[in-house]
Amino acid sequence: MLNIDPRLIVALDKPTISDAQNVVDTLGDAVSFYKIGLQLLPIGGMQLAASLKAAGKQVFLDYKLHDIPATVEKATRSITGAGCDLLTVHAEPAVMRAAAAGRDNSDLKILGVTVMTCYDDAMLEEMGYAHKARDLVFRRVEQALEAGIDGVVASAQEAGEIRQRFGGDFLIVTPGIRPAGADVGDQKRVATPASALADGATHLVVGRPIHGAPDPAQAARDIVAEMSTHPA
Ligand code: C5P
Repeated sequence: MLNIDPRLIVALDKPTISDAQNVVDTLGDAVSFYKIGLQLLPIGGMQLAASLKAAGKQVFLDYKLHDIPATVEKATRSITGAGCDLLTVHAEPAVMRAAAAGRDNSDLKILGVTVMTCYDDAMLEEMGYAHKARDLVFRRVEQALEAGIDGVVASAQEAGEIRQRFGGDFLIVTPGIRPAGADVGDQKRVATPASALADGATHLVVGRPIHGAPDPAQAARDIVAEMSTHPA
């Protein structure tokens, strides 16, 4: 039997807390790290986070904070009280610096969401950005490191170049993971678990390929088996 791999994060993208809890119960010992996002945060996601922490799991709070620096700093400070492990903020320099200040000496690690993958070059231009999406990703990784946060969320396609350009001691958390031969769904830029790790990802976020599988625990174990070809 394979060990749990703490690099695998299962996204609890479910409409209710009880649906999310069912996923956690079904996965049991196969998974140790969960992501709670905007769908659950307004309806009890923080209580779910507390119960997952009490059960010995790690928790990624996907808030994607974006506000004036004073508010981001205070929000981050409030969030540290939950004792969770990862928090996302938008990767704007002032936002990232504020989050770094707000987490103080807690163990909460801050991730910058570089450029959301729903934005293409035309949408960025419409929003007034001078950079193309890919260039903006690398600029924001640089700014994340300057701001003193712990890493970034990035697609596997970008992970390799991020690692090459910026080195090896920060987190790269990668969604859009699909086991070889799996349904791609609405993800446009996908990678297999093994290739994402080979490209430099430190953590993989996987949702539907696990909680939508006929046997979710087996799906998680299969992904962990694939990940084991790239030890941490
Ligand atoms: O079900 P699936 O494996 O596609 O879920 C991926 C998770 O990662 C979802 O929670 C989604 O919101 C998140 N995510 C993503 N692409 C990004 C950032 C986050 O799919 N660029």
